Parts: sequence; C-alpha cells; structure tokens
Amino acid sequence: MNQNDLETSGPHRTTAQKIESRQAVAAVIGLGYVGLPLAAAIARAGFRTVGFDIDPAKVNQLNTGTSYIEAVPSECLADLIYQDRFRATSDESELSQCDVVVICVPTPLTKHREPDLTYIETTTRMIARYMRAGQLIVLESTTYPGTTEEVVKPILEATGMRSGRDFFLAFSPEREDPGNPHFHTTTIPKIVAGDGPLASGVAKAFYSAVIERVVLVSSPATAEAVKITENIFRAVNIALVNELKVIYDAMGIDVWEVIDAAASKPFGYMPFYPGPGLGGHCIPIDPFYLTWKSREYGLATRFIELAGEINVAMPRYVISRFEQALDQHLSKSLGSSKVLLVGLAYKKNVSDIRESPSLVLLNLLEMRGTQADYHDPYVTEVPATRDHAELAGRRSVNLTPEIIRSYDAILLATDHDNLDYEMLYDHARLILDTRNAFGKRGYRSNKIVKA
Ligand SMILES: NC(=O)c1ccc[n+]([C@@H]2O[C@H](COP(=O)([O-])OP(=O)(O)OC[C@H]3O[C@@H](n4cnc5c(N)ncnc54)[C@H](O)[C@@H]3O)[C@@H](O)[C@H]2O)c1
Repeated sequence: MNQNDLETSGPHRTTAQKIESRQAVAAVIGLGYVGLPLAAAIARAGFRTVGFDIDPAKVNQLNTGTSYIEAVPSECLADLIYQDRFRATSDESELSQCDVVVICVPTPLTKHREPDLTYIETTTRMIARYMRAGQLIVLESTTYPGTTEEVVKPILEATGMRSGRDFFLAFSPEREDPGNPHFHTTTIPKIVAGDGPLASGVAKAFYSAVIERVVLVSSPATAEAVKITENIFRAVNIALVNELKVIYDAMGIDVWEVIDAAASKPFGYMPFYPGPGLGGHCIPIDPFYLTWKSREYGLATRFIELAGEINVAMPRYVISRFEQALDQHLSKSLGSSKVLLVGLAYKKNVSDIRESPSLVLLNLLEMRGTQADYHDPYVTEVPATRDHAELAGRRSVNLTPEIIRSYDAILLATDHDNLDYEMLYDHARLILDTRNAFGKRGYRSNKIVKA
C-alpha cells in the first residue's frame, strides 16, 4: 500500500479522515471475551463506540455499567458510558450510523467437527442490510484462510457495492489472552490485512489509533493463516509435552522439572506445559478449521490430527492415574471414592468453562460411580453447555478444612492463583495435581501425585 493511496480523494479518504479526527463511529458486533475488551479499547482511544449483541441480557447489563468480562472492569465501563463513548444495543438499524464495523462473533465447530460459519454469515447479512459507502468492515473472528474473501465479501457485494471502491473490507485476528495480566488488547501487536490497498490503508489507520503496534500483511487470507498458525503451534506443542508427560511418568521422571530445566536454555527452546487436556474457545477448535479447508486441496493435516488425538486422550489418562493413586494410597476404588475436583474453568484466573477438560473429568468420574463435586472461585454455578447439559445448575462447594477432609481426594484441574493451596494441602488426604500447582509452590509430599 502506498501512502499516496490514502491521500487521493474518495470514500476511503473520507473514512480515514474521520478516523484521524476521531469523528468516526465504531460498531463492535459480539460483546464476548474478545468483543467487549476491544469495544472498550476503541472507546478509550476516543471513538464513539456502539456495542451490538443479540443477547438482550448482556446489552441491559452493560448499559447499567456492569461488566461480565474480567478484562473490562465495571468502573472502566461505567466511565465510558458516562463520557458517552460506549453504549450497547441490539438494534441493528444503528449500524447505518457507523463508519467502522468490527465482527467478533463465535466461530465454533458443528456436531461433525466442521467449521460453523453461521454466526459470521448472519452478522454479515445484517451488516449488508445497513451498509453505506465508505464503511470499513473488519472480521476479527478466528477462521480458515479464505473466509473474508470467499464468504464475507460476496454477501456484502450482493448489495451492489464493491469492496475496495464503495466499502473497505479487512481481516484482523484477535489475539486476546484472557487472564494474562501482562498483555492487554492495546499492547498486543495487531495483524491487519485489507482486501486491496485502500482497505489496508483505512484498516491500518483505524487500528493504529487503538493498538500500539500494527503489523500489516499482504492479504486477508494471510492474516487468517497467521492466527490459525499461532493456535496450531500451541495445540501441537501442548500435545508434545502431554505425550512426554506420559512417557517420563512411566520412567519416574517429573516432566515439569524437565521443562523448567530445559527452559534455562536461552535460545531454541520455548516452554509449554502439560495439563488435563485442552480447553477454551480457541486451541481445541481453530486447528480443525484448517483441517477442513485443507481437504479442498486434497491435503491432510497430520500434525493437527495427531495433536488433537493426544490432547483429547488426556482426561482419560488423568482418570487412570487417579484410579491408581486412590488404590495405592488409600486402598480405595474410584467408584467408591468421594472426590473434589478443584478448578472448572479451562485455564487459571478466568471463569470461561467452554470446552473445559474439567467438564469431561467430572463426567468420566460420575460414569465410574464416583461421588464428585467441584470447587471453582470463578464459577459459582455451572451454566448450560451444549456438550454437558447434565452438569447445568451444579454449584461450587465452599472450601473449608472440614469440607476438604470430607473427601477422599482432591483432583486439581485448574491452578487459579487465588486458591488456598495451603488449606488444600493441609487437609486433603490425597491430591492428584494435573498442573504441578503444588510442586511449583514448594509443597513436597507423597500424598501429591502428578498426572
Ligand atoms: N476467547 C478468546 O480468548 C479468543 C481469543 C482470540 C480469538 N477468539 C475468537 O474471537 C471470536 C469470538 O470469541 P469470543 O470468545 O469473544 O466469543 P463469546 O462467545 O465470548 O462472544 C461472542 C458474542 O457474540 C454474540 N453474538 C452471537 N451472534 C451474534 C450476532 N449475530 N449479532 C450480535 N452478537 C452476536 C454472543 O451473544 C456473544 O456475546 C471467535 O472467533 C474466537 O475464536 C477468541
């Protein structure tokens, strides 16, 4: 993209000027883990921002200044509302007043583990109904390479307007890492690619106003591939250490000690840690978007499939280790034991239970007849989930010395920082630790079994 492109007159120039002067109004569609922090960052950068969500309960809650996402404190939200910078709505007709429209809706898998683009398609059709000349439309949802140009663009162009001439289309993947205190929406470099040089220029102008560093790549498909590569990299490396965990455990070697020592090498190594299985909306799902798309080219994604196989097998491995530990330490069978699973969220310090291996662990325990409860400071009650409807409504038990002592064993599945590890250690009879949470806090005892 040539800087001169942005200086010639036309709808792109008008939009770029509105962005520079902060007169542009931005819309963020989908106010979840990604969309809400992004909307707050855009509003903080000085843009009037309208947040859209189909869930009226979320819209009402946000408009009272109460956040449901840890990364956006309620005080910050209330302040943005007070300054008239942010407002939530379900009224799609308000899109016609927006200069920039950012799509942050879910991209799950179908029952047959294929990409489910229905949220993106429905949202794009909604945008098309209110589209006007000069709008910048950006897809942020994680998806397979080609989605922006092959799925979003045709729906928008069916209005008769042309991408790169009448409206400007881009892809910019979200890299949010919920619960990570070191990086926030604005400090994580942002990959951006427009459909053509004018769209790249307008998109770059917009994101540069909000995010500290923008990395422009040559096409939306490349930007889509960047995001999916990052997530495949994590899925494959986590699978590798999960496999090593099983092998080293059989050899009597502690995989966490190995990884920490290997991480002392200042080059050529990056630590990944094993666990009870993959969770969240990204790592267990996104790699399979590429698997699906690769089939169109007659190509197999063997690394992805193998990593998926290993990671999916982890909850069963954990349960088999738990069974052995109960037998060896307490002479009890799994089915006759009373177990407290600690940590329901898929990773530490968040409340997100989507795809959480803890749900699978609870399910596997109960299938064996184990009496199982859970404790999670972030999840007081299990919400309805598609795959684990049977767990909906279950409540977190309080942690007290008496309650801990009333269980045969603790299964530590998520290492939240705010758990009372000392109390757990002091009062549990047996601890199966899938995160090395006790080891890294200096607890050593043969009542702690790692798995
Ligand atoms: N959660 C993460 O850590 C993360 C990180 C990077 C990328 N992503 C990607 O970002 C995208 C969004 O993920 P998320 O975790 O924020 O999802 P989420 O489920 O937390 O939020 C999505 C929101 O979109 C709303 N929504 C659904 N359909 C809508 C529509 N037609 N119109 C308006 N609102 C609609 C839902 O009500 C929900 O509030 C996904 O593609 C995901 O892969 C997520």
